[in-house]
Amino acid sequence: MLTRLQLLLVISATLAAPILAQHRLHNEADESAESHPWMNAKLSPDERADMVLKEMTLDEKISLVHGNGMPGWGKPRPNAYLGNGGAGFVLGIERLGIPMIQMSDAAYGVRSSGENGRYSTALPSNVAAAASWDPEAACAYGALIGRELRAQGYNMTLGGGINVTREPRNGRTFEYQGEDPILAGTLVGNRIKCEQAQHVIGDIKHYAVNDQESGRNEVDSVISKRTMRESDLLAFEIGIEIGNPAAVMCAYNAVNGDFSCENKYLLTDVLKKDWNFKGFVLSDWGGTHSTVKASAAGLDNEEPLDDFFGEKLKEAVQAGKVPMAELDDHARRILRSEFLSGIVDHPMQKSVVDVEGGFETSRRIAEQSTVLLKNSGVLPLDRGTVRSIAMIGPHADEGMISGGGSAQVDPPGRPPAHWQEHVWFPTSPLKAVRERAPGVDVRFDSGANPATAAALAKKADVAIVFAYQWTSEGMDLPNLSLPDKQDALIERVAEANSRTIVVLESGTAVTMPWLEKVSGVLEAWYAGSKGADAVANILFGQVNPSAKLPMTFPRREADLPHPHLVTPPPGAQGQAAVMRTGEAKPTFSVHYDEGLKVGYKWYDSENKPVLFPFGFGLSYTTYAYSNLKIKPGRETSVSFMVKNTGNRAGMEIAEVYAGLPANTGEPPKRLVGWSKIKLDAGESKEVSVTIDRKYLSIYDENEDAWKLVPGTYTFMAGGSSQDLPLHETVNMK
Ligand code: BGC
Repeated sequence: MLTRLQLLLVISATLAAPILAQHRLHNEADESAESHPWMNAKLSPDERADMVLKEMTLDEKISLVHGNGMPGWGKPRPNAYLGNGGAGFVLGIERLGIPMIQMSDAAYGVRSSGENGRYSTALPSNVAAAASWDPEAACAYGALIGRELRAQGYNMTLGGGINVTREPRNGRTFEYQGEDPILAGTLVGNRIKCEQAQHVIGDIKHYAVNDQESGRNEVDSVISKRTMRESDLLAFEIGIEIGNPAAVMCAYNAVNGDFSCENKYLLTDVLKKDWNFKGFVLSDWGGTHSTVKASAAGLDNEEPLDDFFGEKLKEAVQAGKVPMAELDDHARRILRSEFLSGIVDHPMQKSVVDVEGGFETSRRIAEQSTVLLKNSGVLPLDRGTVRSIAMIGPHADEGMISGGGSAQVDPPGRPPAHWQEHVWFPTSPLKAVRERAPGVDVRFDSGANPATAAALAKKADVAIVFAYQWTSEGMDLPNLSLPDKQDALIERVAEANSRTIVVLESGTAVTMPWLEKVSGVLEAWYAGSKGADAVANILFGQVNPSAKLPMTFPRREADLPHPHLVTPPPGAQGQAAVMRTGEAKPTFSVHYDEGLKVGYKWYDSENKPVLFPFGFGLSYTTYAYSNLKIKPGRETSVSFMVKNTGNRAGMEIAEVYAGLPANTGEPPKRLVGWSKIKLDAGESKEVSVTIDRKYLSIYDENEDAWKLVPGTYTFMAGGSSQDLPLHETVNMK
């Protein structure tokens, strides 16, 4: 006979059983934790990966090293239903407790929310966020994307773009973090660190020298080893060191003759050996060109399908053309990444995205990213004296433009965006300005007819023109001019009203033939879900601007290292052209002969004046620099005083540059560090910046090593690359 207590226990256990079973469905690792020794989270990711690998069959290993398709990429596979609607997925190994990898693009927010009936926050574009020069903002950026990925059922990001801006007409400039490898690498590293901390596999891309979109699948980037290591690759090196991403995406283009995803120098010699990268390399979508060569070069995972890393790889392993140890290495790296990022220990848990929290983060980062380029005293707008404002510009009543391609975030309240559609986010400048100016007569004109826009401007105390330049993956800009006759519109408005402010919504630098005629210019970039609020807060002085340009704005295209964009010659595009010899070969080249002279390093070396220099940005207050002290050593310490000499609080990005000894052949100076400091009106602070030895070194091609060249180093500090009042030289060895 059962006692009453025993009976109660039996009943409650019976009732609980289905609940537990259901729970396990969502949390399968719980069950496996008891049965599989590698589920012990105290073991290292390497130990755990090794243990799983020993249990795996050849087919299971193969299933780990390729994707299973992407919606819209050819005919769906029978197992397409297992995907989460993202750019790709890798099957899990259920019997061993290894989950599927669900990948999504997530450059400035999670992609494809439209098709999938979900919601994503749009952050300011990546180049915008780089203008904050703020590792904490980069962390908040990554953490938000990580959370939204998981909420939507993804456990891997394909964000983390970091190609340095060699070519400002590159249509993907907005997805990257500007022209300086130390700034870009530091920011992307912090983004990845915090994104991956949300238990998603982090990614950095496109490795490497994918610096233009024109002919991206056919082009050979020809570049010297030293140049690469000190510029394009240095950004990756720093990003990987700080962020420890579990994945690196190799690029579409070739580098020095070999396609990136079968380039042994890039994938094995540099990434895996020299940098000791322990994660996995996945190909850009359709960027794999071979089986044996790519595998030997160090590609670990083909996306989005298995043209080379499916059946063909299996056969190559069975035939001894690809050693089993090589396949094991690919599989081990993927498993290790799953353990490292925590996707095994923290199984997917969908949830509702924090919409309001996302707005708050997006606005805050936009406020830190909007660069005040010109102010002849018109800003901040004084609500006491401004009685009327003319708001001009296409869509300035309804929204702000966003960047296209695989980075595109879908705005709420409308159907999913088509590829390369111009998408205006519903963040209305008109509404934001009206909200901050009660009692002020704020009127709108789209600018479609410059005459009516000018007439409206003439009657107003202030005119604000919202101008845009749309860019996207899969295209480069023909030039840096504003499209759609916006230059002429701005000229007309500025003639009608001398108090004209231009707000730029751009993905890269723009030329400004009207600059002398306007009173104010704000670079708002692609400003994200709450861009209009951020811009309005700056216009009315609720926020004191602090952002600085992460890239040079040249005066004209003729001043660029490549005045003419190198585009594919006739017949050079397409798979057939690449495979003409039977082996994949690039069909045309871009010679990066400017070498180390990227961005400001080019304009400095060539003595070319620019429109706005790298590191430039105004504030509503002013700062003074003094008392530079250098302590050379293993790590060099640079300190100086910064004083807020104006009458309102602000944040100053204090920049430190170094000029290397003349015999190094380096450009005149390079950014080596910075500090972002908050200063009340009249306040002074000592700033101390520690400089990594590598940042003062050159890459010696003959020795294949970084080397600090003994000699005289000049340290400079100040508020932009062309405003460096403090100089000090020291001898270093
Ligand atoms: C892009 C990648 C992207 C991938 C998946 C490619 O076209 O170059 O950046 O992650 O597609 O959408």
